[in-house]
Amino acid sequence: MADEKKTIFSGMQPSGYITLGNYLGALRNWTKLQDEYNCLYCIVDMHAITVRQDPVKLRQQARKLLIQYIASGLDPEKNIIYYQSHVPQHAELGWVLNCFTYMGELNRMTQFKEKSAKHTDNINAGLFTYPVLMAADILLYQADLVPVGEDQRQHLEITRDIATRFNSIYGDVFTIPEAYIGKVGARVMALQDPTKKMSKSDENKNNSIALLDEPGVIMSKIKKAVTDSDNEVRHGEDKPGVTNLLNIYCAVTDKTMEEAEREFAGSNYGQFKTAVGEAVVASLEPIQAKAKELEQNKDYIDSIIKNNAERAQRIANRTLTKVHRKIGFPDRIR
Ligand code: TYM
Repeated sequence: MADEKKTIFSGMQPSGYITLGNYLGALRNWTKLQDEYNCLYCIVDMHAITVRQDPVKLRQQARKLLIQYIASGLDPEKNIIYYQSHVPQHAELGWVLNCFTYMGELNRMTQFKEKSAKHTDNINAGLFTYPVLMAADILLYQADLVPVGEDQRQHLEITRDIATRFNSIYGDVFTIPEAYIGKVGARVMALQDPTKKMSKSDENKNNSIALLDEPGVIMSKIKKAVTDSDNEVRHGEDKPGVTNLLNIYCAVTDKTMEEAEREFAGSNYGQFKTAVGEAVVASLEPIQAKAKELEQNKDYIDSIIKNNAERAQRIANRTLTKVHRKIGFPDRIR
């Protein structure tokens, strides 16, 4: 019988230790989708090198990320969890798609503009064509849905444009994917500057909470978070710091904004921050415990890395072979 389940693809860069933003914006939603869909969750190490990385750290971060995927609740038997660099089909399709993407389209990407402004000494071609590799990731597996945070919306749009362009020339080769962006937690902001997003590569570590931060560190970062001077716990554009903390609180407790505001009516910022900190700690505790346990289990993690890369390659090859045929590459002689 044909498999009726739809396919999900998503990924994270191992360019640092993942944050509460990555968890609430993406990873947590992934765990909710694993029963209904065929899911692939990638560790996009090839994307990470568009910014200079320390090789030792990159390797450690990639393994830690894989462990955190599983510790957060992704079942490696149900989902295909793997390293992008172990599946060369990503780069191969990426090259083909480069030839179907316009410079003008890539020039409009806000992430490229932001990252090239931040790394003026290393504006490399990979940073520019980053969205093309991302399109290849998604299209290789004929993904229907891509669960991401708000900041990736533009990359999903260009993926759809590239796929539609290719299909209009060669027929229905690619499934056109949809973004899946959650209602809460889709944009967690930096704690010290709530006008910019929380980011794992932020140099100011007080801006972000890492998934594996110790409880004391989490409490202290939240207590130091920027708020405002009026001491009223409510959300609003005029209160980005308090709004961000309220959003985090709602996301980790599954409460609505109204419920949260009612709960903190009359509380001062000190009491409010303590409650937010405690709620974050409580939600991350089971993940941290599981991650510690998995780190001890080297053979188990290694077997996941090996088996899942093979599973991913088998699916990826189907699409790549079709693409090669369509564009006129000679058949391989077997
Ligand atoms: P990355 O590694 O920056 O982030 C991983 C996921 O976390 C989400 N996210 C956030 N959500 C809420 N608030 C935040 N402050 C926040 N920061 C990050 C991101 O939206 C993302 O879902 N280009 C991607 C990686 C990628 C990918 C893909 C994703 C490569 N290929 C294919 C999906 C499909 C990235 O840089 O994510």
